[in-house]
Amino acid sequence: MRGAEEMRAFVARRAFGLVPTMGYLHEGHLSLVRRAREECAAVVVSIFVNPLQFGPGEDFGRYPRDPKRDAALAKEAGADALFMPEVVELYPEGFATEVRLRGVEDVLEGAARPGHFAGVATVLAKLLNIVGPERMYMGQKDAQQAFLVGHMIRDLNFPTRLVVCPTVREPDGLAMSSRNAYLGEEERIAATAIPRALFAARDAGSTEPEALEETVREALTSEPLIALEYVSANDAATLGPVEPKTGEILLSLAARVGKTRLIDNVVTKR
Ligand code: PAJ
Repeated sequence: MRGAEEMRAFVARRAFGLVPTMGYLHEGHLSLVRRAREECAAVVVSIFVNPLQFGPGEDFGRYPRDPKRDAALAKEAGADALFMPEVVELYPEGFATEVRLRGVEDVLEGAARPGHFAGVATVLAKLLNIVGPERMYMGQKDAQQAFLVGHMIRDLNFPTRLVVCPTVREPDGLAMSSRNAYLGEEERIAATAIPRALFAARDAGSTEPEALEETVREALTSEPLIALEYVSANDAATLGPVEPKTGEILLSLAARVGKTRLIDNVVTKR
């Protein structure tokens, strides 16, 4: 054992890590498990399709599930334990508590999916209490979710450090998502226009929010299979409007490709 850096790394590895997921694992999830494996002494992966975060008419019932394959993939990536509770175990009859984040849960994805983030925050508060990890690993793919969970951890004094990991993409740019499994062949090809539009906006040179949003809108209107739901440039540190003091801009969108709703984002420096 030498210097302070190694000492810190050694102590950090005694940590317990949690990777919460809804299963149907792909490389995006597994990148979180591998990062946790590198940094923690023990890694728990939870797999729970959380009914509380799905709205009426959303895809809770048909969300893809493959617990056997998930278990094998999670183990292979370095999970020591899988936590796969039943719905009744987490939400027994009479369950009444809800965690809400005033303001930040109502913008962007929260505006499009009322109640969604209350469901996410509530289940994560429960998972944090059950598992008690020093570290929790989440993806930048769901930028607002990661932002909100960091907020909740601070607000409620959870003794857990949130580690937000980069979005893992397919070779053609599409962000990995369990919902990509819904896409038909033509839709899957069309969906690559989403990351292309985001990268084009980021690389076009302007950091004016309207210009960023307009570049995405223009790029996607010519795609017949894609219906843009929203695109928004926000201050990455607050999710509020971009201001003169804004350091990083979160450019995020939701779009339907056929019946499938996908989200994606890029972060760019002001
Ligand atoms: P799920 O969509 O299964 O995602 C689990 C975790 O994997 C989240 O932190 C998500 O941001 C991350 N992730 C998904 N796709 C990724 C990608 N392409 N690259 C990097 N990370 C990716 O998000 C949820 O489940 C749920 O809302 C949950 C947090 C488990 C609460 O129910």
